[in-house]
Amino acid sequence: MSLVVLPFKSEDPTLVATNLGVAAAQSAVDEVWAVAADEAVAAPVRILADDIAAFREKTVRVIIQERIGKLRPGKGDAMNTAISRAAEEGWDRVHFYDADITNFDASWIDGAETAADRGYGVVRHRFPRAATDAMITWMITRPALARLFPGSFLPLLDQPLGGEVLLTRVAVESLACSEMVRRRSDWGIDTLLTYATSVMDIGLYEHHVADGKRHALYGSLHELREMLVECLDAARSLEGQPGPAPGARHGSDPAAEAPEDLKRIVAYDVVGSRRLLGMIWPEDEVRLVAHLPDEVAGRLLSAGPDRVFEQMDAGLWYEVHGFLMGRFVLGDPSWESLAFRLWLMRVLAYTIQHASQGYEESMRYLRSTVDLYVTAASSS
Ligand code: LAC
Repeated sequence: MSLVVLPFKSEDPTLVATNLGVAAAQSAVDEVWAVAADEAVAAPVRILADDIAAFREKTVRVIIQERIGKLRPGKGDAMNTAISRAAEEGWDRVHFYDADITNFDASWIDGAETAADRGYGVVRHRFPRAATDAMITWMITRPALARLFPGSFLPLLDQPLGGEVLLTRVAVESLACSEMVRRRSDWGIDTLLTYATSVMDIGLYEHHVADGKRHALYGSLHELREMLVECLDAARSLEGQPGPAPGARHGSDPAAEAPEDLKRIVAYDVVGSRRLLGMIWPEDEVRLVAHLPDEVAGRLLSAGPDRVFEQMDAGLWYEVHGFLMGRFVLGDPSWESLAFRLWLMRVLAYTIQHASQGYEESMRYLRSTVDLYVTAASSS
């Protein structure tokens, strides 16, 4: 018995309904739930969902997310609402998909079901993304997993922030009881689910979606600020936790050539984002930067952020990322502003120096930075 869940908030109701319809049309799927952030966003989807349910003769429920966690009420509460209900109802398999996917089709569901049929307890979807997309994944989350769990498969996971996963019953039941997962009500939920399912030792498979995950891209990077600080805090919260057992079962489809059009996409507004760097360092941020080793702080503060940002190469970022992992405080305006500025410097430096060199070269470079961090963490 398989259930498909789509958490949503501000996505276009017709897109959410299209994706509910795709899920309901699959013979492997017995029921579909849309988990809404609140009643206002639920209402237009509910009308469309009722039509789909009647047409497909399947249960399609629109439910409102409960307040479960301790942080900002967000996607984490939506996912945890579904996890806890699915555990109570005893579903064998629960698929989650982000509601904003524009190329959702049978292959996602079939691919995950096939891997689960082969005995994997968790299936994650992996997919190519534009060279300037996934900038939290590449600059925050994968470096954090490299630093914290260097010998394991965690830093090698393609989409550790991906909301597209299949959980089998044993995983759902375990997550429903996990306090560290339940408290994570914000954008940090994907990081926590990735971590928690990786240490269950029930087999983890990465299913490759060759066409990539098509979704709405961004304007300036300011749109990712909230997600950035919450994902950084989520990554920090894994400090000191045990990693996957040595030899834990991890399989993956091989990566394939990315679609040509995806290789040419610029995922965010580079000019607008560059304006956010600022010409001078705010006083409160200077005080925080001063805690970095003198040589690093000196390099950063030698001129305004808009003039030094190109120095933020993979090596300097390793120092800065370690500093943020050690000291960042979610909810503190100075820390949040500093973390955003430093990440912006890194993303823009990468975009200008590497992303302009072509898609394959960019991907090779990004993977090499994760390897570098694994090596650095292994030897420290
Ligand atoms: C990421 C977000 C931005 O994966 O989608 O980095």
